[in-house]
Amino acid sequence: MNDYVNPLRAPQDRRLPRVAGPCVLVIFGVTGDLSRKKLMPAVYDLANRGLLPPGFGLVGFARRDWEDQDFAQVVHDAVKEHARTPFREEVWQQLLEGIRFVSGTFDSDESFEKLRETITDLDSARGTGGNHAFYLSIPPSGFEQVMAQLSRHGLAERKVGNWNRVVIEKPFGHDLASAKELNRVVETLFQPQEVFRIDHYLGKETVQNMLALRFANQMFEPIWNNHYVSHVQITMAEDIGIGGRAGYFDGIGIARDVMQNHLLQLLALAAMEEPTSFEASQLRTEKKKVLAAARVPGRYDLHTARGQYAAGWQGGQQVIGYREEDGVAADSSTETYAAIRVDIENRRWAGVPFYLRTAKRMPRRVTEVALNFKRAPHLPFTATDTEELGTNALVMRIQPDEGVTLRFGAKVPGTQMEIREVSMDFGYGGSFTESSPEAYERLILDVLLGDPPLFPQQEEVELSWQILDPVLDYWSSLDEAPEEYRAGTWGPRSGLDMLARDGFVWRRP
Ligand code: BG6
Repeated sequence: MNDYVNPLRAPQDRRLPRVAGPCVLVIFGVTGDLSRKKLMPAVYDLANRGLLPPGFGLVGFARRDWEDQDFAQVVHDAVKEHARTPFREEVWQQLLEGIRFVSGTFDSDESFEKLRETITDLDSARGTGGNHAFYLSIPPSGFEQVMAQLSRHGLAERKVGNWNRVVIEKPFGHDLASAKELNRVVETLFQPQEVFRIDHYLGKETVQNMLALRFANQMFEPIWNNHYVSHVQITMAEDIGIGGRAGYFDGIGIARDVMQNHLLQLLALAAMEEPTSFEASQLRTEKKKVLAAARVPGRYDLHTARGQYAAGWQGGQQVIGYREEDGVAADSSTETYAAIRVDIENRRWAGVPFYLRTAKRMPRRVTEVALNFKRAPHLPFTATDTEELGTNALVMRIQPDEGVTLRFGAKVPGTQMEIREVSMDFGYGGSFTESSPEAYERLILDVLLGDPPLFPQQEEVELSWQILDPVLDYWSSLDEAPEEYRAGTWGPRSGLDMLARDGFVWRRP
């Protein structure tokens, strides 16, 4: 056996903590919800876990007329309310020294000059090495101006030994053409390897575990194909409505909001071939291949469904319908439920439909990827024995009850041969003592480390739009509102029919 390991090619020792080097993180749109609930707490959690260097600075940029201390207070409150790890005064004090705020607008040269001065001061005060990450937590309509200003004020200049990166949030455009345009704008200033696109599902432990489950084990991959699998169901259900997010959501709809990105990424990870390694380029090659082979079969009337929630009951409370939500037009035809069938035209998956569904105001919050297997080719039992036998399923439970379930038939104790469906469960909570980091912790750390595997590349984004665009065009060509479904139910009739026609039913997760 050859046990020589080339030290230059040996993977980094994963047992050593991955600690970011000195740098400044600039967040545009720092007064938004995402920043308060996810980004600031994630920065603190990283600091608390010792994964940020002493030479770290955080700069907030927004319109508000705030001083540094006002912003620091906002960060402090956000951390106290939303951080995953306990609050420790000494960690906070260390972070606080590097917190700055720049009050300004995207069209103001003066604001960006102030930003440049602030960053330069921080660079020398904190020894950040001139490394800067610009996080655009803003609507894409602002990207062009921000790029122009960063360029004009020399904020993304590459000097020997330092780095500049830009982080953008989904949705990456609203169709293929706009996604290309958005990318053109971002790449006027940044090289492709400097652009980090956040799809926060890829930062979830359970999503990464799909790769571990498939490729670190011998027993799953041999049955992971059309010889054994009858169909795959990918569900992302939320119990919440759109709350205060009408401004963002109403013009977009749920297919653009989460199907184009989160659900199609889940599909790619579930269906792709084994990459030669987990380096970004290898992983992306396999994801791109499978996305390029995926399409919604042409009968969009039969193989897609959309819906909009009407008033109903949720968790014992009466809730309003989508059209009654604040900021939503009374005749809005935006979908809050979307389901599509995707066929993957390759040897592994030919004949195995993948069904994707997502919705607001479903009975509960759950995301899962379920492989449903074919029936055993022969059952040496009577029909009565197997009345309660379903089909085998392997369910990757992404959230909230993180783990994996295997469903199969077992004999009911007794003198008869009666077979009933049972489950075998792996739960993160029961098997590991550490709690999973938040997706944003992992992703922000990876940005600061310049580690790209968990960030979708532009080509993946474009392939995903290619899958979805024809469906969106079809929906918008229909001169009718989406079918209503009562809040707190599993969606509209057309969603159920879509599967029933193929001889399947949606799982009740
Ligand atoms: C976001 C969507 O990407 O994901 C939201 O814009 C959605 O509409 C959210 O609520 C759900 O994220 P998670 O991690 O709670 O499943």
